[in-house]
Amino acid sequence: MDRYAVVGNPVSHSLSPEIHRAFAAKTGERLRYDKLLAPVDGFADSVGEFFERGGRGLNVTLPFKGEACRWVAEAQPAAARCGAVNTIALEDGKTLGFNTDGIGLVRDLEAQQVRISGRRLLLIGAGGAVSGVLDALIDANPASVHIANRTIAKAEALAERQGAAVAAASLDSLDGRFDLIINGTSAGLTGEGGLIAPELAAGAQCYDLLYSRDAQTPFCRWAKDAGAAWVSDGLGMLVEQAAAAFAIWRGCAPSTRDLLRSLRPGTPA
Ligand code: ATR
Repeated sequence: MDRYAVVGNPVSHSLSPEIHRAFAAKTGERLRYDKLLAPVDGFADSVGEFFERGGRGLNVTLPFKGEACRWVAEAQPAAARCGAVNTIALEDGKTLGFNTDGIGLVRDLEAQQVRISGRRLLLIGAGGAVSGVLDALIDANPASVHIANRTIAKAEALAERQGAAVAAASLDSLDGRFDLIINGTSAGLTGEGGLIAPELAAGAQCYDLLYSRDAQTPFCRWAKDAGAAWVSDGLGMLVEQAAAAFAIWRGCAPSTRDLLRSLRPGTPA
């Protein structure tokens, strides 16, 4: 049976096996999907061995997306541009690297009827997570894009990559009004939710790239308290990026909303 896995460290909490097994059951594809815990300094050995033993594809999660981009034989242009790979496929004996995070985010926002086009966008964070979704968001034609980061130099470097389309700021020098605020920092992993002035979130739509089983990430809780008009965690993005990876591997696109409803009862049809 074709073997797939998600590689990360830590990886025990990952929902990817549950998601891909559900996709396989739904589409009738026969495959096995496991978790692969790689030592922090042992990514190349772990994934090399996985493919040598007949593995067909990997999802890559923290902290290996950057390393995966350098490891694959060939990174697709979109993945190479953001320097992060979240999906590896073995095709004709060659490892190919893709990034499906951006398309996953855009599809989840669409499914939740959140418009990107014509809107003022604020991205918080300038690490791999934001870099991975930036192109897909810009392709959706927002009116403006700001990137705010604790270390402003990283926000400036990302903005520079995009040319005049994007402005950079530090977290406490942010000025202006935003319609859609997306948190791409890892601060929530240590329980921190409030990164910017709460006035900025009041009346805005707020989305966290992180997710939690109960949808209440620290950023989501903070945004709700700050008076956000709408708040979502990134569970839908996780399912959508997985569906895009599944389509790359198996050539068929599974439906996602049924699965989301089973992971989170109450999700609108
Ligand atoms: P990832 O690949 O998940 O994006 P990363 O590249 O380490 O991980 O980036 C983490 C992001 O979260 C960065 O933007 C980081 O800000 P710095 O560039 O200043 O380090 C941000 N971040 C992490 N913890 C934070 C905190 N407590 N407050 C504000 N920003 C934080």
